[in-house]
Amino acid sequence: MSAATGEIRKVTTHSIQSMKDRGEKIAMLTAYDFSMARIFDEAGIDILLVGDSASNVMAGHETTLPITLDQMIYHAQSVVRAVSRAMVVVDMPFGSYQSNSEVALSSAIRIMKESGAHAVKLEGGAEVEDSIRRILLAGIPVMGHLGLTPQSIYKFGTYTVRAKEEQEAQKLRDDAKLLDELGCFSLVLEKIPAKLTREVSESLSIPTIGIGAGKHADGQVLVSHDMLGITRDFNPRFLRRYAELFQVMTAATQSYISDVKSRDFPSDREQY
Ligand code: KIV
Repeated sequence: MSAATGEIRKVTTHSIQSMKDRGEKIAMLTAYDFSMARIFDEAGIDILLVGDSASNVMAGHETTLPITLDQMIYHAQSVVRAVSRAMVVVDMPFGSYQSNSEVALSSAIRIMKESGAHAVKLEGGAEVEDSIRRILLAGIPVMGHLGLTPQSIYKFGTYTVRAKEEQEAQKLRDDAKLLDELGCFSLVLEKIPAKLTREVSESLSIPTIGIGAGKHADGQVLVSHDMLGITRDFNPRFLRRYAELFQVMTAATQSYISDVKSRDFPSDREQY
């Protein structure tokens, strides 16, 4: 908020870069719907990621692969409607950018035009260089994503820590440098050793945002349903739960059921 005008100062690619330059950590969370996005935005989150993790936490799929471009745009529209300050970044879903740069550009344009979001995110380095180039040329800010890239889960086979071996670590360093040089405005590093995150974050001019990548990233992101304790069965070492909403919501639901069954709800004051 600007003290002089009372106007809310929106988070932009420039403010994200200045945060890295002055050593202020960047806080990012995923959001998929209007009500939660409004809470996160009013609480002061810097970036809301409309993650393709919606495929898991919203739709109940096992992987991020099934979610479609139309479904991502629907989630992004809901989030954008809620936000006054945060920057909204939308994941390009599996299949919307891998085949060629023309497909990638048209998917990115649909996301920006139909949702009103501020940037897109896509997974990969040199393999998707042409797509990133083309999207950036159209004036669309791009967030990169390296390390564990869930859209390639069937190639990796597991969700374990990536880039522990030198060959994979070197590819990640090279890809990170490439994304910085291409003009991505930031880079997600997922589930890689903290030492590698430190090295990459110190060597890049753009901010890194880590998930399971240690404390040296320039910012952190968590899947909101995990950090709020709505999901139960996902307990990786990197996850800190800030609430236990599964229990809170279960207890509230049980109280409601009990009040309905016992005719306690609605009371005389709760009717017309
Ligand atoms: O889709 C998602 O939630 C993500 C984060 C894990 C970075 O890509």
